[in-house]
Amino acid sequence: RQRNAQELIRPQLPAELTNRGKCPFDPATGLTELSEHGRIHRIEHNGDTVWLVTGHDEARAVLAAPQMSSDRINSPRARALISPELHAEMFPPERQAGSFIFMDAPEHTRYRRLLTGQFTVRRMRDLTPRVHEIVTSQLDAMIEKGPPADLVHDFALPVPSLVICELLGVDYGDRDEFQRRTSKLLSLNTTVDEQIKNTTELRKFMHGLVRAKRQNPGDDLLSGLVRDTDLNDNELTGIANLLLIAGHETTANMLALGTFALLEHPDQFARLRDNPELTENAVEELLRYLSIISSGVSRHATEDVVIGGATIRAGETVVVSVPAVNRDDTQYDDPHALLVDRPRGHHVAFGHGIHQCLGQQLARVEMAVGFTELLRRLPALKLAVPADEVPLRTDMSIYGVHRLPVTW
Ligand code: HEM
Repeated sequence: RQRNAQELIRPQLPAELTNRGKCPFDPATGLTELSEHGRIHRIEHNGDTVWLVTGHDEARAVLAAPQMSSDRINSPRARALISPELHAEMFPPERQAGSFIFMDAPEHTRYRRLLTGQFTVRRMRDLTPRVHEIVTSQLDAMIEKGPPADLVHDFALPVPSLVICELLGVDYGDRDEFQRRTSKLLSLNTTVDEQIKNTTELRKFMHGLVRAKRQNPGDDLLSGLVRDTDLNDNELTGIANLLLIAGHETTANMLALGTFALLEHPDQFARLRDNPELTENAVEELLRYLSIISSGVSRHATEDVVIGGATIRAGETVVVSVPAVNRDDTQYDDPHALLVDRPRGHHVAFGHGIHQCLGQQLARVEMAVGFTELLRRLPALKLAVPADEVPLRTDMSIYGVHRLPVTW
């Protein structure tokens, strides 16, 4: 019970393959070396055997293969590690309801269709001015307080949290509580017991929100699901939770680590600041270059399948290393350079196949507005501490910085 909850459903890889290199933006040195010797690798570590994918085409093949399951909660590995009693406590059916990131077709297809029906072009268009207001008011508050500031605390964490409040229709009066609860989810090395407690509390909050939307629907996404579908309260609570967990920490780390990377590449910072029309391009490049899903995207095979010449047996685990794949030199020229005007190509920062990020358009809007306004309002932004004192999230599955002290 004292084990790290994440370890139980995420295959373990040695630190030299998941940490970062000498430069805080580069993949681990071990990973770069491995990539030079092949594109799919069999790794044994701590009793786990994992296929690690570092090649771009092989990654897409794994993520598109119908024999690859996303049901990490019920994978042979999770079932072997977690006793049936603890499994029942950690993942009771009502907690699995609606969590379609862990589902396979055709169950996944049904939820994904219902959600795609709500992530409409119109809703995203209507959210854009709200994203603008949220970004602007966070920057106003940070500037008013004066330098130095912690960009993580004052900007990168609150922006996506407040955007999710807009998406789900959280009342203004409840937003402080929402932010408090969401920040707890980000704490380090949560044990199984702490994780059960945090998730139970958050579910209670989300369930209250679902009930409120049933009684008094608005024009937010949750109200749309209540109105247009026959999903029950457990499913709606699970979906709201999933959107929060998938959309908050990811976007927050892209905003903070993206700013750090730009500050450490002053020529690219200046190029973007002076040419804001490059922002959309720069966002794609930062997604590729930073590849914040450091621990990768994992699957297990439900049947034997051959990928990149390797035979993956039924039950075996496969991890797509996002940082390695996004630096594949058969796919990108000069892959280790950050170039805000690099022509757009395919990257797997949002995954690929049926589970490809549902919130990617919203995330792009948040990053585009976030970086444009940050550089426009604070053109002389710089680090307030030496770069090697910025605390890195090497110990978290989503990479980034714990704090980013800045001044202007
Ligand atoms: C799925 C990355 C922002 C909602 C994914 C996946 C990746 C990803 C790699 C695929 C996981 C897999 O295949 O197992 C990111 C990154 C983001 C981001 C890097 C920010 C820069 C968001 C936002 C939302 C969101 C803002 C919603 C508000 C989701 C959902 C899924 C998902 C619901 C599951 C889709 C499915 O299973 O069909 N994301 N994401 N994400 N993302 Fe994102």
